[in-house]
Amino acid sequence: MESLMRKDIEYVMHDAEAIAAKVREMGELISRDYLGKELVAVCILKGSMMFYADLLREIKIPLMADFMSISSYGNSRKSSGVVQIVKDLDNNIAGKDVLIIEDIMDSGQTLAFLMELLQARDPISLKICCLLDKPSRRVAAVQPDYCGFEIPDEFVVGYGLDFAEYYRNLPYIGVLKPSVYE
Ligand code: IMP
Ligand code: MG
Repeated sequence: MESLMRKDIEYVMHDAEAIAAKVREMGELISRDYLGKELVAVCILKGSMMFYADLLREIKIPLMADFMSISSYGNSRKSSGVVQIVKDLDNNIAGKDVLIIEDIMDSGQTLAFLMELLQARDPISLKICCLLDKPSRRVAAVQPDYCGFEIPDEFVVGYGLDFAEYYRNLPYIGVLKPSVYE
């Protein structure tokens, strides 16, 4: 059966093969950088669920998995910077090497908030790994340590990323037609 969501997509920016190749590359890099460390990979729900599941299988060293669910107020196309913790981590991260796995960095306000929050819990190190980055939109002074693709200022969905909770199940990253949200 053909995807009923394809009609809402302007164009496919990164297809499943390109994503898989990039995720494999990132996993190798992280495996080397964190060798011998006590890595805690933090999944920021819900957007990074696909990326997290795929990336973790490409990391070849032991790690602890933990999940945090946050929601940012505002409309569904951009975050307001006001972040609410819906579900906190289950484990203490003091003395651990923590890597935040996020789907996309836009204004950077969500990550700036998370960095400050988690830094206060005394991890040995705290870094950011994001699949997508829109550097042209940055407001907060925060940069990813690992980044899959830098993308232009367009609203993308798929591979975990949503518009009003829809489109997360697309296997690729595509630009949403403005007619869908205008
Ligand atoms: P920031 O706080 O402005 O960096 O926004 C980060 C969050 O906004 C991400 O975790 C996404 O939930 C959402 N977001 C930003 N850009 C997009 C996009 O192009 N598609 C889907 N969600 C996005
Ligand atoms: Mg998100």
